[in-house]
Amino acid sequence: MGKARNVMMIVAEGLKKSYTSGGRPLPVLRSLDLSIEAESFVSIVGPSGSGKTTLLGLLAGLDEPTSGRVLLDGEDIFSFSEDGRAAFRAERVGFVFQTFHLLPTLTALENVLVPLELRGEGHSARDSAESLLERVGLGGRLDHFPSQLSGGEQQRVALARAFSNRPRILFADEPTGNLDQETGASIVEMIEELNREANTTLVLVTHDLAVAERADRILTLGGGHVIEDRPGRGSG
Ligand SMILES: Nc1ncnc2c1ncn2[C@@H]1O[C@H](COP(=O)(O)OP(=O)(O)O)[C@@H](O)[C@H]1O
Ligand SMILES: [Mg+2]
Repeated sequence: MGKARNVMMIVAEGLKKSYTSGGRPLPVLRSLDLSIEAESFVSIVGPSGSGKTTLLGLLAGLDEPTSGRVLLDGEDIFSFSEDGRAAFRAERVGFVFQTFHLLPTLTALENVLVPLELRGEGHSARDSAESLLERVGLGGRLDHFPSQLSGGEQQRVALARAFSNRPRILFADEPTGNLDQETGASIVEMIEELNREANTTLVLVTHDLAVAERADRILTLGGGHVIEDRPGRGSG
């Protein structure tokens, strides 16, 4: 399948988010607009506190904006109920976090099975979860609990989990932030490979400029807006 260029997978329009701090509104995003093409790889950078995690949470429908719209794959996700959004995410969205977010009482295999079970996929699930863990080099660690895995291995389980529902969009929030340079680089390469194979749209937040440069496009957040939008090395 070729790249479906110019089809917008993610559109944000007039996106605003304020928190309340000490009884006062704390504006974090101030009428932010962006469009991200299907199957592209976009990095988001910006100083700590600039709202990168807030933006990703809104784009993924994990949190609600103060105002504004998000269209994912053409769907206005905040027109759905919270349950509707959860179902939409289970169908089309994957998320990878800095701190892995694995369930500590479940094995590697069981963690990868969670999204598949949420989708109501039965006996085929185990085979696809196993092959995803093999794909990320953990075929020999299926029954390990998170505490028995290194940080890099835990993030690889989280990647297998994120791709298990074959998402159209993958959001990754500082996925290398808790890993050493070399392990982080291998995680990014793995995300890129899985992204290409599955024609996923990838949105990755990072403060590592070398990682950000690998994208097709780099967006910089500041003052509640996108203050820079430039091509990365992946665009060449
Ligand atoms: N749940 C929350 N309640 C109140 N303030 C928050 C909350 N989440 C984030 N903030 C504030 O919003 C700002 C942006 O945070 P965040 O999106 O985490 O930034 P980044 O990921 O770029 O470091 C910060 O000033 C932070 O303190
Ligand atoms: Mg953050």
